[in-house]
Amino acid sequence: MLEFTPDAPLLVFGGPYSNLQATAALITEAERLGIPPDRVICTGDVVAYCADPEETSRRIAEWGCHVIQGNCEQQLAEGAQDCACNFEDGSACAALAKGWYPFALARVSSEMRAWMGGLPETLQFKFAGLTFRVVHGGVSLVNRWVFASDAAVLAEECQVASSDVIIAGHAGLPFITRSGHQTWFNPGVVGMPANDGTPDVWYGLITLGRDGVTLSTHRLAYDHRTASATMRRFGYANGYARALVTGLWPSLDILPEAERGMTGKRLRPRLTILQRQVPKSTSAQPAAIA
Ligand SMILES: [Fe+2]
Repeated sequence: MLEFTPDAPLLVFGGPYSNLQATAALITEAERLGIPPDRVICTGDVVAYCADPEETSRRIAEWGCHVIQGNCEQQLAEGAQDCACNFEDGSACAALAKGWYPFALARVSSEMRAWMGGLPETLQFKFAGLTFRVVHGGVSLVNRWVFASDAAVLAEECQVASSDVIIAGHAGLPFITRSGHQTWFNPGVVGMPANDGTPDVWYGLITLGRDGVTLSTHRLAYDHRTASATMRRFGYANGYARALVTGLWPSLDILPEAERGMTGKRLRPRLTILQRQVPKSTSAQPAAIA
């Protein structure tokens, strides 16, 4: 199990989704915060909806942050013919995937597919006395949709996680919620906005402050117009190209009722403080965050 020193923050993020402009902005943000790539963790789906699958994969691999496999990495590494996103047959998401997945499969090099195939499926680490497990979708299933409003699914997933905090991606929305004594932390994704009517994307920070370990979500603006225009040039997934600008997803198929109801409502950053468990010799510095 990895152990990170608690004297500096960790940055966590999901879903670069072939969005090169958003990925570049996330890297610039980490540099602005003084967080090196070995303290950054990506929850997978480096490749998905947007226009630059090969370049985005290469940028992440060369940067050298920790990455676990999303369902997209697993499928691309195998050369599979679909994304295994767990979209319902006949849904708008499934129809859109018939555009972006073959586009990505045709453009990702064998070198980057080998990199994807070599990524771990999960990571476990310690930070300030707490245990963390990083997964893509669910703990039990890589492509399970786990949302804040679904307490039953959260409880099931937490039960098999055996860690204080579970960090997950796949669902595309940032949230932090408790389930019993455990905490589910989805820092959101950088490759697609959060269906809140703004083009901004999201990442998370884990810091040790005076009162304990803080989990927080953060908004990130980036050059979404170039990302959208590049997709439009290829013309294979215009629903997602529009979403990059409007901040509204092309389909709400995957969302539970409560999350659907949040469509177009500007999300607020979230912050949760977990019980302080610091070795006596550790001196914690509050992190400078946005
Ligand atoms: Fe995924």
